[in-house]
Amino acid sequence: METTSQAQEAALYTKENPLVTKVTDNYILNKEGSIKDTRHIAISLEASGVNYIPGDSLYIFPENDSELVKELLNELDLDLSLEEETKRFTEEVNLTRPSSKLFKAIAEKTGEDAKEIQSSFDGYNSVNIIKETKSKFPEFKITSNELAENSSKANPRAYSIASSLKAHPESVELCIARVEEEINGQMVFGLCSNFICNRVAVGDEKKVKVYIHKNDRFRLPEDPKTKVIMVGPGTGIAPFRAFIEERNSLRDSGTEVGADWLFFGDQRSKFDYLYGEELEGYKEKYGLKIDLAFSRDQDFKVYVQDKMRENSAEIFKWLEEGAHFYVCGDARRMAKDVDQALKDIAAEHGKDPEEYVKALKDEKRYSRDVY
Ligand SMILES: Cc1cc2nc3c(=O)[nH]c(=O)nc-3n(C[C@H](O)[C@H](O)[C@H](O)COP(=O)(O)OP(=O)(O)OC[C@H]3O[C@@H](n4cnc5c(N)ncnc54)[C@H](O)[C@@H]3O)c2cc1C
Ligand SMILES: NC(=O)c1ccc[n+]([C@@H]2O[C@H](COP(=O)([O-])OP(=O)(O)OC[C@H]3O[C@@H](n4cnc5c(N)ncnc54)[C@H](OP(=O)(O)O)[C@@H]3O)[C@@H](O)[C@H]2O)c1
Repeated sequence: METTSQAQEAALYTKENPLVTKVTDNYILNKEGSIKDTRHIAISLEASGVNYIPGDSLYIFPENDSELVKELLNELDLDLSLEEETKRFTEEVNLTRPSSKLFKAIAEKTGEDAKEIQSSFDGYNSVNIIKETKSKFPEFKITSNELAENSSKANPRAYSIASSLKAHPESVELCIARVEEEINGQMVFGLCSNFICNRVAVGDEKKVKVYIHKNDRFRLPEDPKTKVIMVGPGTGIAPFRAFIEERNSLRDSGTEVGADWLFFGDQRSKFDYLYGEELEGYKEKYGLKIDLAFSRDQDFKVYVQDKMRENSAEIFKWLEEGAHFYVCGDARRMAKDVDQALKDIAAEHGKDPEEYVKALKDEKRYSRDVY
């Protein structure tokens, strides 16, 4: 049971005063053979008094790779035992994504054009940039203060919470795509996703700094009897795992709950059906309706919006019955296409698509958590 002092402490965990806690679980959700690395990460809230509800997100403070920090201190001719410098370049500065200020600072020292330097160093981390610049301009020097002042900060990153406290009373669970990609011949490792997935050992005491972000714009319907349609490909599944767990817990306690319908998609059915066994179990036990879109199982793309179009009549029927419609995941492509599919479904059923979708939004029945 949460004590009053725990509850008071929990309210204090903010960006300025994050909870310092440990990772309690970390495993790859993709099967061997996948080209993706999507992790299930669990973080302890034990004895913190911190709580959240489905739809909220968790912010994690990243740290740079200690090897990269050592290389940097070496390049800056700094003593590795300098604790303050090590802390600054581990926790405060983003070393993997150089800021445009750094390119300007280098241009001032070398006489080169800042824009040209920036484009030639696309994909490079700050340490490799310093190394390359030194090899081209042997006189080039940058102090640790100059580097810190001309770098962006290691800001905390948001992750949609993938668990319900009803199912996991003392933890917060996440579904995180580890970002690793080649840009301009350089391997780019996303700062926070690689920190949490690869640099924090499970069980390490007091290693991660986190805080909850309340998101009242992405909430389950107040009346549990309301039907719910969820569209969440890739890591977009995260908040829907939380929604489904929450509603299943209500079902277990005897509450009448409306039907749940999930549209999930990813690359290949054999390797990338995230939480597949769990979701199939919910289909059996609780009647969760699932439609799957595996984009690379065939030689043409199949996406969640294609599955929506195939189910146009039933989606429209659910919406007319008052269902809430949710979308989570990629903002740039998927969310726009899903929005269009929803409008097409409305038009197919004789509605003005813009007005229909606007009304859904106005009634708070169309919510998006996209990034
Ligand atoms: C509300 C919200 C919820 C979210 N929920 C989730 C979730 O549930 N799961 C999830 O996985 N993510 C989620 N995200 C995304 C997450 O916050 C991070 O953006 C993501 O993990 C990438 O962060 P990173 O620090 O690992 O990568 P970053 O270091 O920020 O890199 C991101 C990208 O920047 C570019 N980049 C980085 N360095 C360089 C360089 N040197 N040169 C050129 N380009 C570079 C690359 O394109 C790289 O892919 C969410 C975001 C928001 C806003
Ligand atoms: N750079 C970008 O534009 C971009 C976009 C999305 C995600 N990301 C990043 O990539 C990482 C992994 O993301 P993720 O695991 O959540 O998966 P994801 O990359 O969003 O992919 C999940 C599924 O969505 C499909 N998809 C691609 N375009 C789509 C569209 N227009 N409409 C519907 N579905 C579409 C993908 O198919 P195919 O891959 O086979 O086309 C895949 O099957 C994350 O770090 C995320 O931030 C980057």
